[in-house]
Amino acid sequence: DWTPKAMVEELVDGVREHVGDARAICALSGGVDSSVAGALVQRAIGDQLTCVFVDHGLLRSGEAEQVKQDFVDATGVDLVVVDAADQFLNALEGVSDPEQKRKIIGREFIRVFEKAARDIVTDRGDEEHPVKFLVQGTLYPDVVESGGGTGAANIKSHHNVGGLPDDLQFTLVEPLRLLFKDEVRQVGTELGVPDGIVQRQPFPGPGLGIRIVGEVTRERLSILRAADLIAREELTAAGLDSEIWQCPVVLLADVRSVGVQGDGRTYGHPIVLRPVSSEDAMTADWTRLPYDVLARISNRITNEVEDVNRVVLDVTSKPPGTIEWE
Ligand code: XMP
Repeated sequence: DWTPKAMVEELVDGVREHVGDARAICALSGGVDSSVAGALVQRAIGDQLTCVFVDHGLLRSGEAEQVKQDFVDATGVDLVVVDAADQFLNALEGVSDPEQKRKIIGREFIRVFEKAARDIVTDRGDEEHPVKFLVQGTLYPDVVESGGGTGAANIKSHHNVGGLPDDLQFTLVEPLRLLFKDEVRQVGTELGVPDGIVQRQPFPGPGLGIRIVGEVTRERLSILRAADLIAREELTAAGLDSEIWQCPVVLLADVRSVGVQGDGRTYGHPIVLRPVSSEDAMTADWTRLPYDVLARISNRITNEVEDVNRVVLDVTSKPPGTIEWE
């Protein structure tokens, strides 16, 4: 029967057997899944593993710094941070279609990992041991919703599953592929991953790129980043973090509405708040946040974020709506 300890042992053995004495990199986002996958593989193969954190320019405020601090401090893992914002944003230029965005982001991630893998080998002067394996924190729901489960339709291509290029040079190591999020959290705790990471709310690999409905531009990203930070600050201040599964903040970049701010008419964009409650992200309900918290978030966003003159609340469950808008 299922205990976190037995599960960790089984997963660690499996990884050791699969990878042998080869070198691996782990695609680390700083979220629960990839952090737990990284910690697990480190337990299995130690310093044959290097974690690679990609700053794709689609991160929330403060994210890169947090990963460096929290995860490296806790695990002592070998970490490489790659600044690839220009590469991703150039590739996304002119693209509004959600599936196309997801595929481009998935592809660029792999390009970054390929280059990082070559650099790691060169830096170590160890051409005998090229990087053969790519570790990803893919979970069971990612597989199912990307159309990988039996009979499942492709709902959306998770960047680490349906977004992978056909000519992938790595063999994938996905030790969490059969697990749900709550099980992953238990495995993480068993491995000594700190609570601050294990209890973190989910954030999708494609980041803010799939929370801008419309083309992704630097300017739009900075609007969304500011609005998202306010929502997160107020939810945390209200003590609601553990009550909600996550709260995507979405910019409707191609929609404008008329407002009145200060002395005059504005013609700005709406921000959508999408707080959800869920057990495993396969289904979800919208969270009934207290009105005063919603009011504070709305007031602050419309006052503090330029070009936003309206805040709306998404009151759709999943199904029919997915959690993310794209
Ligand atoms: P949806 O929008 O499919 O989201 O209801 C379900 C959960 O998955 C997250 N999500 C992703 N996570 N890569 C990820 O790592 C992705 O491409 C991706 N798309 C959605 C989403 O935030 C929610 O927790």
